[in-house]
Amino acid sequence: MLNTIVCGDCVGGMKSLDNNSVDLVFTSPPYNCGNKGKNKDMYKFYSDNLTNEQYLNLLDESLHESLRICKGLVFYNLNFMRNNTSTLLEFLFRNKDVLRDIMVWDKMRVQPPIGNILGKRCEFIFIFSKDPKTVINDFRNNKATKYKDVFGSWLSNICQIGIKTDKIDAKLHRAGFPVDLPKIFIDMYTEPGGVVLDPFMGCGATAMAAKALNRHYIGYELNKEYVDIANKRLYG
Ligand SMILES: C[S@@+](CC[C@H](N)C(=O)[O-])C[C@H]1O[C@@H](n2cnc3c(N)ncnc32)[C@H](O)[C@@H]1O
Repeated sequence: MLNTIVCGDCVGGMKSLDNNSVDLVFTSPPYNCGNKGKNKDMYKFYSDNLTNEQYLNLLDESLHESLRICKGLVFYNLNFMRNNTSTLLEFLFRNKDVLRDIMVWDKMRVQPPIGNILGKRCEFIFIFSKDPKTVINDFRNNKATKYKDVFGSWLSNICQIGIKTDKIDAKLHRAGFPVDLPKIFIDMYTEPGGVVLDPFMGCGATAMAAKALNRHYIGYELNKEYVDIANKRLYG
């Protein structure tokens, strides 16, 4: 199971993982923005158009399983889009008791607005844990000092990481995050040999970050095409 990306639905798949068997979850679930209009090129192989109820269930159930399986922090990278705002707010409200903090990911580039809204320069990383005492900011072992250019002098709630999308993947999957994003959090919150889970693995950025840092990964991805791309990025 370690160092594998399972092709299939994460919610069903994660049920076979034991309680507290991974050290960290880092993921970006689909945003449910419809894959049409201005978003039509977001994915080549995923339609991204669940009903609000199905989308809320996917977020809720994947988080529930992630919290059960994970000993530590669970990071969900998401953004408010025209089609998903009410569902995302509902998801956060439902899970307010396990939401520990919110980080802003400053992508350092503005995406032009669609309609009467602000241009998008940031996304959000929602940080959950089942135990309120799970350490987010460890002053005694502050690994963030080496990421001053990302967070500032202290581990702050803004991380500045520009988008450096791999050109080959960009044509097939524009919703991928840069490998540096999960890499920084995996480095800060796990030790070598630890296990990182990404329930929505896409083209494999979290697995690549884990591998580069000598951590193990477990991933799920609905579409075989993306699993194949991820494995190719990982092992050539
Ligand atoms: C925002 S993308 C993740 C991108 C990824 N972080 C990367 O860097 O490539 C969300 C992914 O979740 C996948 N997905 C959607 N529903 C899923 C499900 N129920 N189980 C597993 N994967 C799913 C989609 O195919 C899509 O690739």
